[in-house]
Amino acid sequence: MATERTFSIVKPDAVAKNVIGEIYSRFEKSGLRIIAAKMLHLTQEQAEGFYAEHKERPFFPDLVAFMTSGPVVVQVLEGENAVAKNRELMGATNPKEAEKGTIRADFAQSIDANAVHGSDAPESAAREIAYFFDDKEICPRG
Ligand code: TYD
Ligand code: MG
Repeated sequence: MATERTFSIVKPDAVAKNVIGEIYSRFEKSGLRIIAAKMLHLTQEQAEGFYAEHKERPFFPDLVAFMTSGPVVVQVLEGENAVAKNRELMGATNPKEAEKGTIRADFAQSIDANAVHGSDAPESAAREIAYFFDDKEICPRG
């Protein structure tokens, strides 16, 4: 399996709970490397653009309001099978359905405030990484 990259967000609820480090620790313990990272407070336009695929869904306005409600941390994770590995660490979208020991089971309360985002495929990962990071901001390691 070739090295792959995925895009991840520590969402406003997890930043507010002060568990950025605990979430980063799970990435690192699983063998993923953090090769780019920054904290920012998303604008309405950034959040709408990022979640454009969901713009017709009923939850879209609440999702954008939540994602702009406080700072987030965005990161690029690299490693073998990074997309699937990160989705496994995250657990199901609805934390009530997420497996024990996953990030969402341990740190999220509800489907709308669910602690983390992770790309769902290599193609969306490439698009999402480019949405937030210039090539110069990504620091791959051997
Ligand atoms: P989605 O891409 O389906 O989930 P995931 O984050 O696991 O890839 O949805 C994006 C986000 O939209 C999700 O993390 C939380 C929010 N959302 C809701 O608020 N209600 C819903 O019913 C769904 C499906 C998603
Ligand atoms: Mg998704």
